[in-house]
Amino acid sequence: MRTASNPPPVIAIDGPTASGKGTVAMRVADQLSFHYLDSGALYRLVAFASEEAGISVDDESGLGAIASRMQVIFKDNKIFLNGKDVTKLIREEKIGTRASRLAIYPKVRDALLTLQREFRQNPGLVADGRDMASRIFTDAVLKVYLTASVQARAERRYKQLIAKGISARMNVLLQDLQERDARDINRGTAPLQRVEGAYLLDTSDLSVDQAVTQVLNWYAKLHH
Ligand code: C5P
Repeated sequence: MRTASNPPPVIAIDGPTASGKGTVAMRVADQLSFHYLDSGALYRLVAFASEEAGISVDDESGLGAIASRMQVIFKDNKIFLNGKDVTKLIREEKIGTRASRLAIYPKVRDALLTLQREFRQNPGLVADGRDMASRIFTDAVLKVYLTASVQARAERRYKQLIAKGISARMNVLLQDLQERDARDINRGTAPLQRVEGAYLLDTSDLSVDQAVTQVLNWYAKLHH
C-alpha cells in the first residue's frame, strides 16, 4: 500500500517546444493508465486569460493574480477555463508565444505550482513541460529529456499547421522556434534544462511509436 512517504510515481518528460513530447507523454500515460499533465497548457491559459482581461505581458503582478484565480478543468481531452471550452483557442501560435513570454516570471510560475502538483494521483502521472524534473516533480521516478533538431521540429509544426488548413512559412517557424528555445533556456527562473539522471531521447529520426516504446522500456526497467 502506498503511504504519504510513497506518493504516486511520476514520469517527467521535459523538452523544447514542438519536440513532440506532448504526443509521446499522452500515449505513455494512456498505456500505463496514468494521469497526464500538460503543464504548457497552464501557461497558455494564463496567456489567454490575461489577454482577454487586457493585462500587459510586462505586468508580472497582474499576470500572477490571473494565474492564481483561474478555474481550470481538464475533461475528455478538452480544457475549460472559467467554464468556457478554450481547447482550440489556446493552441494558436500567438498564445504560445505570449505564454513563453510570461513564463519567465516567478509570480506566474509560483501561482501554478500547487495546481500542477494536484495532478499527482494514483496510479501515477506522466507530466510534460520544461521544469517537471527540475522543479515540480524533482522526485520523479523516471526523467526524460525529449528533444529533436530545430529543423525536424519546424518541419513537424509546419505539417501540423498545413494539415489544419493554416498557412505557414518555414523560415518564420524556424525563427520563432529558435526565439522560444532561447527564452526557455536562458530565463532565470526554472529554465529548460536536462537535469542529472534524465535520459536523453532525441526524436529527430524516431517515429512517435518508437519514442513511446523507448520511454515505456525505461519505465519497465525500473521495476527489475
Ligand atoms: O509546451 P507548450 O509549447 O504548450 O508551452 C507553452 C510555453 O509555456 C512554453 O514556450 C514555455 O515557455 C512555457 N512553459 C514553461 N514551463 C512548463 C511548460 C511550458 O515555462 N513547464
